[in-house]
Amino acid sequence: MENVMRIKWFEELDSTSSELLRHIGDYDNLSVVAAVNQTAGRGQRGNRWFSAPGDNLTFSFLLRPEALPAREVMALTCFATLAVRDALRAEGAEAVIKWPNDIYVGKRKICGMLVENGLEGADIAWSVIGIGINLNQTVFPGGVLNPTSLKRLTGKTYDPVSFLENLCHGLEARLPGLATPETRKALRDAYEQDLFQKNLPARYRDLRTGEEFLGTIRGITPEGLLRVEAEGRERTFGFKEVSYIL
Ligand code: BTN
Repeated sequence: MENVMRIKWFEELDSTSSELLRHIGDYDNLSVVAAVNQTAGRGQRGNRWFSAPGDNLTFSFLLRPEALPAREVMALTCFATLAVRDALRAEGAEAVIKWPNDIYVGKRKICGMLVENGLEGADIAWSVIGIGINLNQTVFPGGVLNPTSLKRLTGKTYDPVSFLENLCHGLEARLPGLATPETRKALRDAYEQDLFQKNLPARYRDLRTGEEFLGTIRGITPEGLLRVEAEGRERTFGFKEVSYIL
């Protein structure tokens, strides 16, 4: 199969992910939808994603993976986060992946991701991966937690169109990583390698109990749960079960 992503730019959309989901039957595999402005950008946990019109990159793409078992869904997150991390590092930002799918520089968030999947039997039939990257925005609304942008880090101004084209080449290059259990394991290993706060004692909150604890991230399980060592034993957490105290 030809691994070429096709980008369609919109001046304004409610949300690039919603656009793909609404017309999922009309979009081909590897379609990319980008918007200069999103009026109702969606974030994780039902939150909104705010991005100053024209300053940043807000886009989503559609993947129809071939034979990707649902239990290996984390491979999609690994694939996308690694490509974004590389694109940001190419600009000189010391980007790392904050489990499960944020990109941080230092203790600040530069990119957020929303991965939405549909199943067919035990396999992933489609995935809409929505990505917001702060490129040029330097002033953020008060409610946004610890944001940063490439411009804040480097002082340079970035062209969202060419940044997206380069990023899509990076994603295309990583697509073969989704193909087999072995390549997916390699993706997971690369993802784990320099996770935010890996091997560094830090404070976390167990959202199931409310308990705050000192722990050390060791990596992820094959299913994508976060592995945190605390008081000599390893604990695992799913999305929404743990928060970082920064
Ligand atoms: C998060 O960190 O909460 C995830 C943010 C994801 C934002 C992107 S912007 C492009 C795409 N369209 C959306 O509505 N959301 C994602």
